[in-house]
Amino acid sequence: MENEIRMTFLSKRCNIVVIRNMIGAMIIENNPTITFINELKTVISEAITNCIVHGYQNQEDKYIDLNIFIKPEKIVIDIIDKGIGIDDIEQAKEPLFTTKADEERSGLGFTIMELFSDLLVVESKKDEGTFIHLEKNW
Ligand SMILES: Nc1ncnc2c1ncn2[C@@H]1O[C@H](COP(=O)(O)OP(=O)(O)OP(=O)(O)O)[C@@H](O)[C@H]1O
Ligand SMILES: [Mg+2]
Repeated sequence: MENEIRMTFLSKRCNIVVIRNMIGAMIIENNPTITFINELKTVISEAITNCIVHGYQNQEDKYIDLNIFIKPEKIVIDIIDKGIGIDDIEQAKEPLFTTKADEERSGLGFTIMELFSDLLVVESKKDEGTFIHLEKNW
């Protein structure tokens, strides 16, 4: 069944579990494998964590937009923040590159997103925000 959910939520870590559960509920009709569900939850968690930690520098009063499109052949997810933006997208996508090495970050978020999705598009502008487009085929 084709479906679409568009939502806006506060940049709080506690919302990651809400989104993980929601996306699981949303795709259950498509009979995904456990692996598919886990990969999708991982991808979306990495993207939202980046919005919170990097885009908004852990400020909890900012908003993240999430659009989910269920299509016959794939699931499409857009995640948008209006935070600090990414200086150099190609560099940011390199495995182990992080601007927060002093914290618990390992620089693998984008690598994981690429591994577990069929298409990853990143658009970003300094001080304007970041747009992440992900597609995963069923
Ligand atoms: N939404 C965003 N806004 C601003 N900068 C971002 C955003 N997402 C990623 N970045 C930048 O890209 C870098 C790489 O992101 P990536 O998710 O690969 O690694 P990380 O978040 O630093 O570490 P990890 O995901 O392993 O905890 C980040 O360190 C950050 O500088
Ligand atoms: Mg990350």
